[in-house]
Amino acid sequence: MIEVKEVDFTYPHSGDQEAAKTIDHLSFKLEEGEFLAILGHNGSGKSTLAKLLNGLLLPNAGEVLVQGKSTLNEEDLWEIRSKAGLVFQNPDNQIVATMVEEDVAFGAENLGLPKEELRARVDQALETVDMLDYKRQAPHLLSGGQKQRVAIAGILAMNPDIIIFDEPTAMLDPKGRQEVIETIQKLHAQKKTILLITHFMDEAALADRIIVLEKGKIALDGEPREVFANVARMKEIGLDVPQVTELAYRLKEKGYPISNKILGVKEFVDQLCPIS
Ligand SMILES: Nc1ncnc2c1ncn2[C@@H]1O[C@H](COP(=O)(O)OP(=O)(O)OP(=O)(O)O)[C@@H](O)[C@H]1O
Ligand SMILES: [Mg+2]
Repeated sequence: MIEVKEVDFTYPHSGDQEAAKTIDHLSFKLEEGEFLAILGHNGSGKSTLAKLLNGLLLPNAGEVLVQGKSTLNEEDLWEIRSKAGLVFQNPDNQIVATMVEEDVAFGAENLGLPKEELRARVDQALETVDMLDYKRQAPHLLSGGQKQRVAIAGILAMNPDIIIFDEPTAMLDPKGRQEVIETIQKLHAQKKTILLITHFMDEAALADRIIVLEKGKIALDGEPREVFANVARMKEIGLDVPQVTELAYRLKEKGYPISNKILGVKEFVDQLCPIS
């Protein structure tokens, strides 16, 4: 679906001092239908990577292929952007119209679809994010979680294969976060390819795979329980691990016989009190 090949990226800067690379010789592949979470400290290059993936930024070296097409080919950029949709942190900045259904239609309208098809796609997208009942509402009256779901519907109406989320829950209350996470899980179940950038370890734990970025390079890459088992390395990078993973790690350090690859509360309890 996406292939990042030896990508370097540095923002243009005014000083004559050579700046460190923001993305530093980065390579990885994202397979069709995969749910990949990206973790990393502030400034590690996560948002820059998201923009490189859908051609909003172009690599200085190497290339990004989306469904086999390079973002360096200007004539393919439009298709890449409609096939790899990007959802940002702040839902308010993504809402452009005064009625929910118009807002959802906005991106898809530019695809030049027949009116009937456009209408069907908007309804389908609103249904998927569970916002169909709000289609004639004014977006500014919605909660943060609802607005974010409308923003996601706007991307879905363009019928993307890949959806890239850049900290979509960072500005939401716990209820809004939950709604958006459930929507992302639903899209994953519907076989969309998902890339989720997040600061929340419990969200990353839901993914098939986690990549931890550090200064534009991959620090860790693997299944959530493999990645989170590196508790000391995660702390060194400035990240936490889920609370139960840390508890198990600390117990193991004290000599308690417990696995260091625990992700959930139930697993933790089962290991502490095995039912005979
Ligand atoms: N438009 C820009 N111009 C110049 N430098 C930038 C620009 N955007 C980001 N940077 C710099 O690039 C580096 C990586 O930024 P980026 O936004 O990709 O990090 P991030 O991992 O998304 O951080 P956060 O967790 O805070 O969202 C930072 O040092 C940042 O200051
Ligand atoms: Mg960011």
